[in-house]
Amino acid sequence: LEMKDALDRLVDSAQDSGTRKSELREEMQAFLRLFASYIRRKRESDVLIWDRIHPVSSGQIGSYDSLPASEYPKHLRKLAVLKVNGGLGTSMGMPGAKSALEVKPGLTFLDLTVRQIAALNRAHGVDVPLLLMTSFHTHEDTTRVVRRYADSRVHVTTFLQSRYPRVLKESMLPCAQSAEADHDKWYPPGHGDLYASLIHSGVLDRLLAQGKEYLFVSNSDNLGATVDEHILEHMAYTQADFVMEVTDKTRADVQGGTLVNYDGHIRLLELAQVPRDHTDDFKSARNFALFNTNNLWINLRALKRIMDNGGMALDLIVREKLTDDGQTVCQLETAAGSAIKHFDHALGVHVPRARFIPVKTCGDLLLLQSDVYVLRGDALVPNPERLFTTIPVVKLGEHYRKIEEFQERFRQIPRIAELDHLTVTGDVHWGRNITLRGTVIVAASEGQRIDIPSGTVLENRLISGNLNV
Ligand code: UTP
Repeated sequence: LEMKDALDRLVDSAQDSGTRKSELREEMQAFLRLFASYIRRKRESDVLIWDRIHPVSSGQIGSYDSLPASEYPKHLRKLAVLKVNGGLGTSMGMPGAKSALEVKPGLTFLDLTVRQIAALNRAHGVDVPLLLMTSFHTHEDTTRVVRRYADSRVHVTTFLQSRYPRVLKESMLPCAQSAEADHDKWYPPGHGDLYASLIHSGVLDRLLAQGKEYLFVSNSDNLGATVDEHILEHMAYTQADFVMEVTDKTRADVQGGTLVNYDGHIRLLELAQVPRDHTDDFKSARNFALFNTNNLWINLRALKRIMDNGGMALDLIVREKLTDDGQTVCQLETAAGSAIKHFDHALGVHVPRARFIPVKTCGDLLLLQSDVYVLRGDALVPNPERLFTTIPVVKLGEHYRKIEEFQERFRQIPRIAELDHLTVTGDVHWGRNITLRGTVIVAASEGQRIDIPSGTVLENRLISGNLNV
């Protein structure tokens, strides 16, 4: 009740009357439902019962390679593409949208996405629209980039996701005192918010009115998630209402959600739902070899039905954060993939790793910006001239955690097409026109700085201490 009063006060504090206030009221009601499930969970703990978790059957996960090749993708004209683009990229210290960063000279993630859809539309004579879900953090950056494509072969629509208040752990009340100020006391509540935001924005109804039936959703930083006509045709042929692309787990993905059968129904199992004494079982690639890429294909009519019949109760993710003034705040979030349990006929497709190239760290960004990936038309693909098909392992230390630090230290991205492994620790600065091959380790000791001069070639080298090259 105290929370409800506090939320009412936030709604009252909104300055303009009319839509903004009523939107905010709706958002606060949805937040209150999520908060209530948080309180219930604190009491009841809703981890799943381990013995009821079973592997999915082979009929539930198709292999990408065995999807039949269709001569003509006849369902493309019923497709819309959605990039979830509301996250802040906190782990890279992003001040705005990660997708507005340049991947290749003059081309951001967003530019490449728009161009990919435009090329698809041109090649097949269709009109696949591109939707971008933004948040109060990313809206400005996003619209600045897509404005360039007002006259292109693709209709781009942006719509805002919700904004929820952070909650103080101690008092269990919102930190924000006002709906207008206190920007940092609000947050976008995860990509699971896409379903509610598609409804609130009117976008879902508009797509249905245009005769669209399928929605392909993916993360805006995943340039591997291009429209794949085979998966689309497979979805139409099997009459699946929800398809999740899953891929092989590597050591880096042990936290990723995995598809399981629970009481006979397919659902996404996240680490937070696993009983504590089974977390190692969950993380092991032996038991759960595949994980969710967040490339999702959704039947829009099925989605509309579910949303009209009471909506979705998505699994809650609780994130705790320490604020600058030393207080702990909670963010209640949801993830898009957990919606799978609400669909009657859901399937997985086991796709190649190339369809999942997330950018979580500046090291991931360095790989995309480097010659390890090249542009083929408007698609970013692994450089065919690389001798090995694996992607190099790049580990950048604390000095490269934030995007600003990374950009300051790399004046130009080195050529790394022949690199296997790079580890950098400490304060290392790179000049221009540098080539790295094999295994390269550069470690500056604490308080020291290493400068790698322009034009350097390093092959199987270890540089450490405060030695300059
Ligand atoms: P993640 O939740 O994996 O996070 O988002 P992130 O934003 O990439 O980075 P961190 O964890 O804050 O460092 C996966 C995708 O979901 C979108 C992001 O923009 C990204 O494309 N997303 C995330 C939203 O659209 N809304 C959200 O509230 C959160």
